[in-house]
Amino acid sequence: MKALVLAGGRGTRLRPLTNTSAKQLFPVANKPVLFYGLEAIRDAGITEVGIIVGDTGAEVRRVVGDGAEFGLRITYIQQEAPLGLAHCVLIARDFLGDDDFVMYLGDNFLIGGIQELVAAFEQGHYDAQILLTPVDDPRSYGVAQLGRSGEIVGLEEKPEVPESDLAIVGVYMFTPAVHDAVRAISPSARGELEITDAVQWLIDSGHHVHSHLITGYWKDTGRVEDMLECNRIVLESIETQVHGTVDDRTQITGRVVIEAGAVVEASVLRGPIVVGADTKIVGSYLGPFTSIGGGCTVEDAEIEYSIVMNASTVRGVSRIEASLIGKGVEVTPAPSTPRTHQLVIGDHSTVRLRS
Ligand code: DAU
Repeated sequence: MKALVLAGGRGTRLRPLTNTSAKQLFPVANKPVLFYGLEAIRDAGITEVGIIVGDTGAEVRRVVGDGAEFGLRITYIQQEAPLGLAHCVLIARDFLGDDDFVMYLGDNFLIGGIQELVAAFEQGHYDAQILLTPVDDPRSYGVAQLGRSGEIVGLEEKPEVPESDLAIVGVYMFTPAVHDAVRAISPSARGELEITDAVQWLIDSGHHVHSHLITGYWKDTGRVEDMLECNRIVLESIETQVHGTVDDRTQITGRVVIEAGAVVEASVLRGPIVVGADTKIVGSYLGPFTSIGGGCTVEDAEIEYSIVMNASTVRGVSRIEASLIGKGVEVTPAPSTPRTHQLVIGDHSTVRLRS
């Protein structure tokens, strides 16, 4: 069994951060989302992994490397444009050969791993297996409609009027039968070769597609609120570890991870919180569910329920909440007169200011 991990695409819902970075590398509790998936694949006993990359391929290659660190052998497959999930299968044909494989969307986050799902697929002798889970608003996902005995009746990609609340989770298991499917389908209205259409093609041509309802935590981290929520879930389970220095004027309640080289002075930290390596937190308040990346400075500031990526500075501002702050960003007060906001913000940014 092999794995095909999808780490290309556009990430338009996380712009402007995705203008310069791969969304699959955005940190959840200071670890790239993609790493959680690669670890789940490794823990399921799979070692041969193909990673589809697009415009941000160089960054993915640099951060993930050859896979040795994860106990994996990684082959990178360049996709010339984000032409759809089924297109990824099409261009990975040589890598996949005639092996069964797991297709894992690099921005999906699943708690509990995929070990049992892979075992169920191998024992079940199905042609494909998809995972489903109920969601509040299925319109942003692939949606499945099940028959009386749980068989899949139909699948639709991002329907305006969903037939059910069952979203397709971004972890699929396929036999080589899928290669005929991805060759047979045509691009959808949004111009992509949809994996949902390929699975529908398998069903229509008499293949056995098994659906498995998952009850554990799953998130597609494609939007800011999903990233923050995912960060919250991972921080819920951290254990306190202090590798940096915390002075005696600092008050800590709850669980915190202070990475090596980090310095915390005269601050109030209410966990769960992660503070990255070589970061300085001075005279500040950090509230629950906050991840501060490595090499940051937070001084005379208040931050809660937020993610701050590496090498950023937040100084002299109160209170930042529910925010996703990119790498090398500076958030500081404007001069006090005139009372104005002073902004240097990239394209497609979102800024919410209290007047
Ligand atoms: O997250 C689950 C959903 O993922 C499913 O419910 C949908 O049926 C499925 O189509 C997919 O929808 P998204 O709109 O969320 O897919 P997205 O464009 O975000 O792409 C998913 C991952 O695949 C992401 O890591 C980017 C990567 N990708 C995407 C495309 C379109 C590629 O590597 N190449 C591509 O051409």
